Amino acid sequence: MSVHISAKPGEIAPVVLMPGDPLRAKFIGEKFLENASLVSQTRGIFFYTGTYKGKQITVGASGMGCPSIGIYSFELFSEYGVESITRIGTCGAYTTDLRLFDLVNVESACSESTYAQCAFNIKDDKIPHQGSMYDRINQVAASKQITLQTGPIHSSDVFYRAETDIPALAQKYNCAAVEMEAFALFANAKYLKKSAATLLTVSDVIPTREHISADQREKSLEKMILLALDAAVK
Ligand code: HPA
Repeated sequence: MSVHISAKPGEIAPVVLMPGDPLRAKFIGEKFLENASLVSQTRGIFFYTGTYKGKQITVGASGMGCPSIGIYSFELFSEYGVESITRIGTCGAYTTDLRLFDLVNVESACSESTYAQCAFNIKDDKIPHQGSMYDRINQVAASKQITLQTGPIHSSDVFYRAETDIPALAQKYNCAAVEMEAFALFANAKYLKKSAATLLTVSDVIPTREHISADQREKSLEKMILLALDAAVK
């Protein structure tokens, strides 16, 4: 048990997939894992451990934003011996260069967040993915002929803003998309010398206000889920 996760020692696999939404973790655990069992539900944040293609894997939610994923990923890495976390989430596209349902394998995450500095005195405002999972995702995608976009993204601390222009930091690093968690996950993995990747599906295009509808969401995320699972067991 850690402060925020109630799984017993040994109930969390060394490789973890991490959606933001607890109900998505439940959906993935029940639909894609064999012999899945619910190993933690503290605060309604579900963690399921089972097997995929014969390998043990845990799917657990991060909640929203850097503080939340910062807590769960730190406890997984430091108290459960987790070696690799792949965040699987959605993002908004800053430009029409990305389209709805596009997949983005995040090369690095920039943020105005003070998370990395406050936690570890890491002063960088952009942190790369950590370890080998990013490359494994690219390799599996190539072998399945899945088109992947790669590059830097913006991990924003805010979802709602007064201005509609692209934030200065995202412009500085030429970020095509925005989400809210990768920066803290990468900071934790960098500090703890672990592996971390982030794979995103474009769920909304900010300039045109197009977005994936609620009922399209479940089906459309399947490609990302299977890609992350196959890379995790590669
Ligand atoms: N902003 C931040 N995070 C997001 C967005 C967005 O527009 N879409 C999906 N995750």
